[in-house]
Amino acid sequence: MTRFSEDALTEAVIARMAACDNARLRLVLAACVRHLHALVQEVKLTEAEWLQAIEFLTATGQKCDERRQEFILLSDTLGVSMMVDAVNHRKPGGETESTVMGPFYVTGAPDLPMGATIAGQTDGGEPTLVSGRVVDGEGQPIEAAVLDVWQTAPNGFYDVQDPSQPEFNLRGRFRTGADGTYSFRTLKPVSYPVPTDGPVGKMLLALGRHPYRPAHLHFIVSAPGFEPVTTHLFVKGDPYLDSDAVFGVKDSLVTDFEHGLASYDFVLKAV
Ligand SMILES: [Fe+2]
Repeated sequence: MTRFSEDALTEAVIARMAACDNARLRLVLAACVRHLHALVQEVKLTEAEWLQAIEFLTATGQKCDERRQEFILLSDTLGVSMMVDAVNHRKPGGETESTVMGPFYVTGAPDLPMGATIAGQTDGGEPTLVSGRVVDGEGQPIEAAVLDVWQTAPNGFYDVQDPSQPEFNLRGRFRTGADGTYSFRTLKPVSYPVPTDGPVGKMLLALGRHPYRPAHLHFIVSAPGFEPVTTHLFVKGDPYLDSDAVFGVKDSLVTDFEHGLASYDFVLKAV
């Protein structure tokens, strides 16, 4: 195509990728072009709206730094993270289901002995012992499984959002022994709003959406020979379980956190 026509444009852009020898890149980018063009046509997007979209994405990038990931928040709040999760972790076999990682994971949390607390000197909150086993699909214990856990303080903030908390507060890594059991002490998680001081918060407000996530404890559970699982345990009874701002709740992950105790067995899928 040498001259523009609305009908021919989409295929012309896709044809221009023919020389790319990365078949997967061609497939993904062609779908991207097709869906974007269709979106523009479906809503008859105005020039002002397209400029607003570009400014919004620019602001989203500008809000990111080494502690703040506004694009993950955008992906999470639009349900894209959970759709990527859904198509990649179909688990009919009863293995522990996955959910969003969220924007607040950091590597390098301290390795702690079983039974240790991740809460340090954190004020407030309800002390809770979290325990259970890491097992395979047959219920056999998995030795040397690593549980990387993180959560907010009772004020609703992760350490990386809150200068009053020490580095790696409410984060820790635990390793199972031969019997596959784990246990650690923490504070009962609380529901909290995702950050609303950036472009994603403004978007939620404009859409009439609340920013809250139901109370949860984050986990990445991994072991040699098994697929790692990135997941949460949600607190049963939380008022936001049905309206999680990032659509992350799965029934199998809702757990009792009563009388200072929570118990959950993680089932990993062999690779
Ligand atoms: Fe979280």
